[in-house]
Amino acid sequence: MSGRLTGRLIALGVTGSIAAYKAVELLRLLQDEGAETVVLMTPSATSFVGPLTFEALSRRTVERDVLALLPDGRIGHIVVADSADAIVVAPATAHWLAAMANGLAGDAVTAACLATSAPVVVAPAMDGEMYAHPATRANVARLREAFGYTVIDPESGPLASGQVGIGRLAALPAIVDAVVAVLAGRPVRSPEPATRPPLVPRTALPDLDGRRLVVTAGGTAEPIDPVRFIGNRSTGRMGVAIAEAALDRGARVTLIAGLVSVPLPERARVIRAESTAAMRSALLETLVGPDGRSGFDALVMAAAVADFRPAHPVGTKIARGSALTLELEPTPDLLAEIGRLARGLDGAGRPLEPAPVLVGFAAETGSLDRVPGKLRAKGLDLLVANDVTEPGSGFGTETNRVTVYAPDAPPEPWPLLTKREVADRLLDRIARRLDERDTAHRPPLTVVAQETRP
Ligand SMILES: Cc1cc2nc3c(=O)[nH]c(=O)nc-3n(C[C@H](O)[C@H](O)[C@H](O)COP(=O)(O)O)c2cc1C
Repeated sequence: MSGRLTGRLIALGVTGSIAAYKAVELLRLLQDEGAETVVLMTPSATSFVGPLTFEALSRRTVERDVLALLPDGRIGHIVVADSADAIVVAPATAHWLAAMANGLAGDAVTAACLATSAPVVVAPAMDGEMYAHPATRANVARLREAFGYTVIDPESGPLASGQVGIGRLAALPAIVDAVVAVLAGRPVRSPEPATRPPLVPRTALPDLDGRRLVVTAGGTAEPIDPVRFIGNRSTGRMGVAIAEAALDRGARVTLIAGLVSVPLPERARVIRAESTAAMRSALLETLVGPDGRSGFDALVMAAAVADFRPAHPVGTKIARGSALTLELEPTPDLLAEIGRLARGLDGAGRPLEPAPVLVGFAAETGSLDRVPGKLRAKGLDLLVANDVTEPGSGFGTETNRVTVYAPDAPPEPWPLLTKREVADRLLDRIARRLDERDTAHRPPLTVVAQETRP
């Protein structure tokens, strides 16, 4: 049932309950449903869970100081109030319910709830006597009846106090279902990224520091004559997003650019290669470094390379005539060839050391059925597939909906994301694989034992 919150921004308010640790898992469940997230915390909540955890997971600054401004001068909790599709306060303490019921905007969670016109979902968690107290009952009733909030009653069970009673935070899937339910039929409130709280740049994550990445981007142009070519609709936006994201994370990037219609990052080493043949030469050139070891740590083939090219391109412009028949021949399968060479499978040499991570892209139309076969046939570590006929996905768009295939895991459909977000998620996977590769190849510790018995 994933993807029910795709495109939404959900604000998660966390207050000072022992159940605050469960909010970390709740955040992930909301994200699994495709939501973007931002977290608000009361000062007490930060004693239970560090804001850094939420910041790293949501990739947004945690709003925990009601007086704090964003770097651009906007008021943090107001930006959340104005752009979130829903605010879910989980866990909600007895103290927070009282503050909210009385409109006391002394913390970022209450202030955002007061300032928003979005639906609010509240999941209280506390000691059983606290929840049963007439003050708490009255506060809950006010939130429900006067404010129209959805309050999810806590469950019965063992509590942090050592007692058993009604006060345990409701099951997390029930909270997610309540958020989905309050949003049914409502349009996405503030889809424009600039109106949402800003994302923390991944520059804070130099996890590709010093890694060498080769990225191909754009379409190819297969010449018919000196002025005409067979091309495709690729703009290079996806490949360039990957190159930029990798540079921001500390990688040294070689960008092999075919026909592109987006600006290329100045920080990358750019090799222009407009035909499939030129791209093949550029790739072969980068395959092995000057020291005889692999020339890159990861290769991401995001270019839309032609499958066919004119068999007999001519050196002079073909004149207008009544008809023209072009004979096409298949182009070399670059990804498969580089994969074979890198793995030493074509008999021409030994496998490259250290083994590079190989990532391909597959633009499909209508169905992704052919993708698992391609992944196996080309010996790739990851294959990122998308249906380019789907709205918002494919050539020239700012967004992409992809499914990621790996030999050792089930296919992973990602929600509709900006191409930069796809790039960063993909680089998360690549960085992890490179770390695993390096750990596996670290030489074992040599233990020297000395015989001490006579
Ligand atoms: C270990 C511990 C656990 C607590 N758990 C809860 C709880 O589950 N629910 C609650 O209402 N208060 C709980 N409290 C009390 C709140 O932390 C306290 O009332 C605080 O002022 C709440 O602030 P806030 O509502 O602004 O986050 C707990 C206190 C401690 C020391």
